[in-house]
Amino acid sequence: MKKTIIFSLFLTALGVIACRRDCGETPNSGDLVQYPYNPQPYTIKKPAHYPEVPVPADNPMTYDGVQLGRHLFYDPILSKDNTMSCASCHFAEKSFTDGKRVSKGIDGISGTRSSMSLMNIAYVVPNNPADTFLLFWDGRAKSLETQALLPVEDPIELHHLWPNIIENLKNHSTYPQMFRKAFGINDKTEITKELAAKAIAQFERIMIGSGTSIYDRYLNGEKDLLQDEVLDGKLMFFDEGSPFGLPDAECFHCHGTGTLTGKGFFNNGLDPYDLLQDAGREKVTKNPNDRGKFRTSTLMNIEKTAPYMHDGRFSNLTQVVDHYLFDAIPTPYPNPNLNLIINKKQLYTPYHRDALVAFLKTLTDNEFINNPDIQNPF
Ligand code: HEC
Ligand code: HEC
Repeated sequence: MKKTIIFSLFLTALGVIACRRDCGETPNSGDLVQYPYNPQPYTIKKPAHYPEVPVPADNPMTYDGVQLGRHLFYDPILSKDNTMSCASCHFAEKSFTDGKRVSKGIDGISGTRSSMSLMNIAYVVPNNPADTFLLFWDGRAKSLETQALLPVEDPIELHHLWPNIIENLKNHSTYPQMFRKAFGINDKTEITKELAAKAIAQFERIMIGSGTSIYDRYLNGEKDLLQDEVLDGKLMFFDEGSPFGLPDAECFHCHGTGTLTGKGFFNNGLDPYDLLQDAGREKVTKNPNDRGKFRTSTLMNIEKTAPYMHDGRFSNLTQVVDHYLFDAIPTPYPNPNLNLIINKKQLYTPYHRDALVAFLKTLTDNEFINNPDIQNPF
């Protein structure tokens, strides 16, 4: 027994010595200092009429940080079998969704929720930092930095382990230098999952709309771009239609103004309270009055992100608007904005539905989707 212990101690010692010579892994040997660390601040490009993009003080934007994040986002090195990356479920062509009803991970197991658009995701921060978490359909993640850690180990997503990924990144031919350039580390042993997540978050923050959708151009003064049916849809969406004999559709209460991203959790009347498959926000807050509530992701580029809702139940926008105008189900707890729609059910016609759908299509931003800065770098 004693002999075995001594022998294994001897082997361990040998291992350490061997590794000191060959693995280049001695902590803080400064193996990266030969590469320059010269961080250049990155100014996020945004249309003049969009709000300032919030950036947390402990993760300032730099060119090298964004580049590292972009590589990690598109690199299957984050998945156990090297087959999937973040971009497998969030790709540019579909405004960073995946076109599936619900997403499937590396093991072919389907989740229960539909991928969310990452366009304008940088704006999804609480107005007051002490406020509720907002990320995911149910608001269970606090920030892009903490969110990015989760899909990697989720068994129905990338199903890998961070310690293994960190090993692979340390031994990679280019990532150690990229971490050095982005974060000034001196040694590859300083690569951590937190730094990887910070870089991914920096990349996600540059996914801001181009401001060239028809609706954006309308906001910027090209008023004649919205006419007839499309204009009627816009007036209904923002409750500006009554002077023109149009019934208000109350959409903006929950979907916000500007980039049309809501920051609250709402129940939009999809299912009867007692028959919900997914409790949504209630899973996080344990409050029965949050049952069936979900966050509204951006409506910008909504034409590109079908199918719709947290479970991808609607395959096109006509079905979505039909739901609101004709089929929405009241909730047992107060839901004033939804009730305003339900109470007007008799007033809506298929013309109103088509007008709202036509308006939603003016939110399409192809320049965003084709923005070279957010494409696959490989
Ligand atoms: C297997 C598909 C899949 C992969 C891989 C994946 N995601 Fe997601 N992502 C989803 C789904 C589905 C949701 C919504 C999940 C929920 O609400 O429970 C989501 C939600 C998000 C959100 C929240 C968006 C919002 O508006 O709140 C962010 C941010 C995000 N993913 C980033 C990433 C990053 C970064 C990676 C890679 C590290 C990644 N995702 C990998 C499917 C995926
Ligand atoms: C009571 C708040 C509320 C009102 C009013 C409302 N919505 Fe929604 N909307 C939501 C919520 C919450 C979701 C996400 C629900 C889910 O996924 O289960 C959503 C989802 C959507 C989606 C799909 C988004 C996606 O990424 O899948 C579209 C499109 C949409 N709403 C359009 C509209 C239109 C048009 C109106 C007006 C007729 C409207 N909404 C009124 C709360 C609301």
